[in-house]
Amino acid sequence: KKPPPMSILEVGGVPLPISSNEIWDKISKFEARPDDLILATYPKSGTTWMQEILDMIQNEGDVEKCKRAISLDRHPFIELTFPFKKKYDFEMALEMPSPRLLKTHLPSHLIPPSVWRQNCKIIYVARNAKDCLVSYYHYHRMTTLLPDPKSLEEFCQKFMSGEVAYGSWYDHVKGWWAAKDKHQILYLFYEDVKKDPKRETEKILKFLEKDIPEELLNKIICYTSFDVMKQNPVANYTALPTSIMDHPISPFMRKGMPGDGKSFFTVAQNEEFDKDYQKKMAGSTLTFHTEI
Ligand code: PPS
Repeated sequence: KKPPPMSILEVGGVPLPISSNEIWDKISKFEARPDDLILATYPKSGTTWMQEILDMIQNEGDVEKCKRAISLDRHPFIELTFPFKKKYDFEMALEMPSPRLLKTHLPSHLIPPSVWRQNCKIIYVARNAKDCLVSYYHYHRMTTLLPDPKSLEEFCQKFMSGEVAYGSWYDHVKGWWAAKDKHQILYLFYEDVKKDPKRETEKILKFLEKDIPEELLNKIICYTSFDVMKQNPVANYTALPTSIMDHPISPFMRKGMPGDGKSFFTVAQNEEFDKDYQKKMAGSTLTFHTEI
């Protein structure tokens, strides 16, 4: 029997996969530490990929250390806890030694205030809207954590109106873009990391004030490439039971390919999406390097 999808709580107008107001209260009081590194993303924007890159950096390329546990158990989300876990992720974070790497899908305006107060370094990864949408659609198909997306058409309407877990993609990428001018935020693009992983990893190293030998940099890039990660059981989510994630329906590591999204749309859908996109992104200086 399939478990029900995660329950959704509306917080500040954003639908979040959080079980109750009491839990949200605890999340918003989460105590960040000054040396926490926060990885922030809208879902399906390369969280697991960046997590692996950062884990390799923090562990100086020690692959065995990076294989100590599956992605979900290695670095907690601040707000998200998959229902089958015995402990909330924020409780797991409390027990972790510093320096911690913490993940979040929260929009910038809902981040626990201690993160700003402690001036934590934050790496935000943005992915272009159509690829994000298509990846999210396939994820809804394969995981019982989220509701059945029905058709791509229906899911597309929900994505455009922000009626999906974590709300509007448009507000998310714009909100964090604006936040980067006030806080220690390195704003990266999935497409850039794909195109030039070396240059983007060097940006990360500079942001983290770390210097590593060229050889180690190459090792990190190889270990975190799509093909290697797809075969890595601690990074590809195949360790979860099929009742949670059914990889034959659509693997978690699906394509990892920029520009894949728009091919799923008809000409009419592309036009409608693009028109709506221009409206929602108008007034922001944020632009994506690959065509949407
Ligand atoms: S989640 O569920 O929100 O944490 O998902 P997230 O990890 O953010 O995003 C999953 C998508 O990222 C792709 N991915 C990668 N792309 C390129 N290179 C590497 N190494 C990599 N690792 C993960 C993954 O395949 C999902 O995208 P799609 O387009 O569905 O393939």
